[in-house]
Amino acid sequence: MERTNIVHVPKKAIQDVQETARHIKEQYGAGKKYFVESYGCQMNDHDSERLRGMLDIMGYTPSENKFEADFIIFNTCCVREHAEKRVFGNIGALKKIKDERPNLIIGVCGCMMQQKAVSDRLFKRFPFVDLVFGTNELHEFPQMFEKVLSGVRVKKVQESDGEIPEGLPATRINTLSTSLVVMYGCNNFCSYCIVPYVRGRERSRNISDIIDEAMHLADKGYKEITLLGQNVNSFKSDDGHDFADVLHAMNDIEGIRRIRFMTSHPKDLSDKLIDAMAGLEKVCNHIHLPVQSGSDRVLKLMNRKYDSAHYMHLIDELRKNVEGIEITTDIIVGFPTETEEDFEATLDIVRQAEFSAAFTFKYSPRTGTAAARMDEQVPEIVKKERLHRLNSCCTEIITTNNQKHIGTIGEVFVEGVDMRDKPMAFGKLSNFKMVYFPGDKDLIGQFLNVKITKTKHNSLFGELL
Ligand code: SAH
Ligand code: SF4
Ligand code: F3S
Repeated sequence: MERTNIVHVPKKAIQDVQETARHIKEQYGAGKKYFVESYGCQMNDHDSERLRGMLDIMGYTPSENKFEADFIIFNTCCVREHAEKRVFGNIGALKKIKDERPNLIIGVCGCMMQQKAVSDRLFKRFPFVDLVFGTNELHEFPQMFEKVLSGVRVKKVQESDGEIPEGLPATRINTLSTSLVVMYGCNNFCSYCIVPYVRGRERSRNISDIIDEAMHLADKGYKEITLLGQNVNSFKSDDGHDFADVLHAMNDIEGIRRIRFMTSHPKDLSDKLIDAMAGLEKVCNHIHLPVQSGSDRVLKLMNRKYDSAHYMHLIDELRKNVEGIEITTDIIVGFPTETEEDFEATLDIVRQAEFSAAFTFKYSPRTGTAAARMDEQVPEIVKKERLHRLNSCCTEIITTNNQKHIGTIGEVFVEGVDMRDKPMAFGKLSNFKMVYFPGDKDLIGQFLNVKITKTKHNSLFGELL
């Protein structure tokens, strides 16, 4: 698939965002509260951080409680049916609050709304929803919101491959570790997946813009940055840089201690990227590399552009070159036509690849995708049974695998404290394994050496050295 020309939202438009937001603050913002709820992936979470950034300029303040907010917005996901159902249910439940408080403003945005048929249906079915927009209109939010404040219902879903809005404000949820989007969209059209339809074609930011944002985050005290993209390693900027170049540039930023990235597509995992992972000390020794299936026949039907042998070759190269690397993955069971034999091949690859964690899903038909049109859909009961068997297999592999960490010493970046029993500090190793050890909240934000003494489920337990 060829690349589209990258279009940046003009600087003037971003200035207008700020101006409109300040205008809203003067006219309406005083004492108003907002509640933003995200339903999707990290990209969706990040879009919500941009919404919060704009709302903060408008003088609105965040509310912990949906029922106290003057503006509620759901940032939706449609990657699987389950995500959609949750949104519809939760919007329906808002009717009662709106009846009691007619001044409440309700918005719905994000991937699910980018499907025109769905947003049309939602806008009709829920007349109490005031604002609906898709993924291409995020930077027009203040202007649309201003119209809504003046009493007009607004729906805007543009068919566009999207632009790159540089310089939108963001209010980030976390204070120690955060995400930074390096590329948007997807060109792969895996046959089961809706993402390319709702996120448009791949477009990469300029390296200089990425580094400016990363330096700004480092100045604010962030120690860990996760570089985000639907296919982060397919990054290709207009001036010819690839994703390994981004890692090299990031590695030089003072103050940043850890660099992570997700999600990587196996077809674009280059030797250069593996070398960068091996050589750059700040780049963590973890990769999330979705395999989706172990059956070559199914992988072909999925349009994944690799086979199981190539996937295993990548795993071998990663393990050979990147010391202590842990690999996590995504797997789908019950793709149309999947036989018992295909499914066994998936179990085989799980055993061979020795993943340290796996996100497992039942195939969910998405309207408009190629797989949804395939004849032989797998019955729900079979999908359920396979998911169950897959999860048992993963648990077994992960539990066995965890044993190898016992007795090792690793650096934990402390994220928080669990107070359930006695205070247990927790945080991740570079390899993405979560570690718990006795400790209190003073340790949050520190990088500490911990000796692993035992394992339980997905997690490791240890003691501070
Ligand atoms: N760009 C990433 C993430 C895509 S969505 C990637 O290519 O890996 C995250 C995961 O959701 C996918 O890896 C896939 O395992 C799962 N997924 C996507 N569409 C799905 C569908 N229709 N049914 C079930 N799982 C799906
Ligand atoms: Fe979806 Fe495939 Fe693109 Fe990932 S690579 S977002 S699974 S189409
Ligand atoms: Fe993410 Fe869901 Fe959209 S997974 S890209 S929010 S469809």
